[in-house]
Amino acid sequence: MATLTRRRFLLRAGALAVGGAAAGLGLDRVLTNSALVPAVALGPQPAGLPQRQYAWTQTLARDAYGNPIAPRFDRLLFFDVSGAATPAAARLLEAALRTLERRYRWGPAGLLFTAGWGPGYFERGLGVPSPIQYPRALSSFELPTIDDYELCLHLACDDVQRLAEVEAALIGGRPLAGADGPLNLSRALRWRATRTGFVGTGLPAAHQDAGGIPANRPVPKDSPLFMGFKSSLRRNQATEDSITIDDGPFAGATTMQVSYMRLRLNDWYEQLNQRQRVALMYAPQVTPDEVAHFTTDAESDPKLLGEAINRYGVIGHAQTSARARRNGKPLMLRRDFDTVDGGQAGLHFVSLQRSIEDFVKTREAMNASSAQLENPAITDTVNNGINAFMFVLNRANYILPTRAQRSFPLLPGRERALA
Ligand code: HEM
Repeated sequence: MATLTRRRFLLRAGALAVGGAAAGLGLDRVLTNSALVPAVALGPQPAGLPQRQYAWTQTLARDAYGNPIAPRFDRLLFFDVSGAATPAAARLLEAALRTLERRYRWGPAGLLFTAGWGPGYFERGLGVPSPIQYPRALSSFELPTIDDYELCLHLACDDVQRLAEVEAALIGGRPLAGADGPLNLSRALRWRATRTGFVGTGLPAAHQDAGGIPANRPVPKDSPLFMGFKSSLRRNQATEDSITIDDGPFAGATTMQVSYMRLRLNDWYEQLNQRQRVALMYAPQVTPDEVAHFTTDAESDPKLLGEAINRYGVIGHAQTSARARRNGKPLMLRRDFDTVDGGQAGLHFVSLQRSIEDFVKTREAMNASSAQLENPAITDTVNNGINAFMFVLNRANYILPTRAQRSFPLLPGRERALA
């Protein structure tokens, strides 16, 4: 015993504690364990917070037409569970998220966030079937890295500095001014990666010296996105109600798809004029003047797709994607944002939908890979929406449980630990 260091003692004790439950798990999972997770006070939760973690829309300001204005800055933090998933770890995460809820008002002027869990958490961590499938490549012209993170925290607000401070507190244990509870997650969760970004008037133009954009600063000064158009008009978005899972163990939850795309905008800005960009973004039947007058709906009628293929030999992104509607309504609530991670212009495409299948269906509609059977002038990446201008690097799927279930969902013993 004299030669047993404190760390080795804790490791051995923990290995005994997780015992049979850890059988079949990797060695690293056995070696870090609940004995290392500090016991923390759970702390109170402010009253009136919505049950859905993704209930952000009501907190957002609106533009002149009632379209919600997205928070200007986002950050995605990716983690794995450190060692075996334990009620103590669930308690630490829940306490930290409650600390954030007390520190900042729920909204873009304070802080919005979601905790999403990937298939590996359920299958490797808990040994139960995952409620969402692993992602896969979704077009013949991509070979993405399939992310295998167990937890994704999506943070968003209008203050970029605040996001950096919250991240430093959660993963690095840095003190956060005004916080009155635990925040440091490092004993329960192993941080693996962070992605950052922005969306909103002026921000893309201010970041356009990144790779993937021509040097002559072509991004319009007032554009909310690198490609020069406004996205997410409210009639082109699913509502939070329509994407909510109705029943089963995840009633009240939704699914989240997160992909990382590099943007390649040299040809977009140097070879095309505005008329051609409008045709590819919306539909060839749409004119730049009409786009300037869109209010709540980018009317890029999918019923005109046949004409677009056969008469114009060009099809539009909004037009092809809108074929994936249900009862006339889009299936996905897009919460994507631009990025210059790695010095390269890109897009973190975050979308919420009732099932991952709804995302797959929409992405397949967007691919429009059968158009070339009708007109060979259109291929997967020629004259085909914006497919040629984005390059998918990563894909991932998560489930966003209700606020009450967000910390280590389905973990045996969590209810007692969070009582
Ligand atoms: C750089 C990337 C992208 C840009 C700039 C962009 C832009 C747009 C724009 C301007 C619209 C028109 C409607 C609106 O105002 O919202 C639109 C619609 C849409 N986009 Fe994208 N998009 C991008 C990537 C994607 C991806 C990767 C998907 C995945 C499937 C997607 C799915 C959709 C859907 C579902 C619609 C609505 C269709 C409907 O009205 O039913 N977009 N997008």
